[in-house]
Amino acid sequence: MLDKNAMIAVFDSGVGGLTVLKELLEIMPNENFLYFGDTARIPYGSRTSEEIRSFTAQIFRFLTTQKVKLAVIACNTITFTLLPQDKEGYPYPIIGMNTGMKVALAGSINRRVGVIATEATVRSAKHVESGKEIDPQAEVYLQACPKFVPLIEQGIFSGPEMEEAAHEYLASLQKADVDATILACTHYPMIKDLVGGIMGEKVTIVNPAYETALDAQRLLAGRDMLNSAKEPGKLRIAFSSVTDENKKLAQHFLQRPLPEIETVDASAY
Ligand code: DGL
Repeated sequence: MLDKNAMIAVFDSGVGGLTVLKELLEIMPNENFLYFGDTARIPYGSRTSEEIRSFTAQIFRFLTTQKVKLAVIACNTITFTLLPQDKEGYPYPIIGMNTGMKVALAGSINRRVGVIATEATVRSAKHVESGKEIDPQAEVYLQACPKFVPLIEQGIFSGPEMEEAAHEYLASLQKADVDATILACTHYPMIKDLVGGIMGEKVTIVNPAYETALDAQRLLAGRDMLNSAKEPGKLRIAFSSVTDENKKLAQHFLQRPLPEIETVDASAY
């Protein structure tokens, strides 16, 4: 029997998922959270589907050893690479990233939506499927941005290298005349202003983190599993490799005091 006081686990290949944790903490401050970032094995986005699925199975097995009532996959790459059976057989429900497509299409006039993501997310083409499902007239343009995550993990959010990469990747979406663009990688909200600046003010930039947090809240509410505590919950953070750099980054992403970061070797599970 799952316990309402158990933790909501939130995980990503690195620090990017903290942009989702931030939204979760805002809408459910009384929940207990466990964040895991597989910083030793990032990036996942350029790996094969088999590798991504096997690393994720190890993370799920680690979470099974913890008191977890829900696992939130705060990573688009993992969400859109897993097969339905990969999420079966665990003692907690599992929820992935929202595509953000509903919000993007709600704000789009010309029904042309851009999606920037990792190579693995682009390979899955799940955003095209989701666009067509919501509106058969929608045109969805995918763009892989493999240079973004390694730069962001180094704490680089601006400057010539990042700007050059952004111009290179966004050119195809500008040419496609999209009027909405989804940040389909949880690292990208850190460069939202840069992306918005290049795309111009007529283009709505959608960060699906908020919708994902709402999905998680809805799932827990539907099962009567929300924590009824009156005081703020506890936060644990674990990385597979803890460095001064990623501690600093975590602080920057979350913008709140951090607990001591634990080390968890996910590959051992
Ligand atoms: N943050 C992950 C995502 O949302 C990608 C990072 C990676 O390539 O490992 O897709």
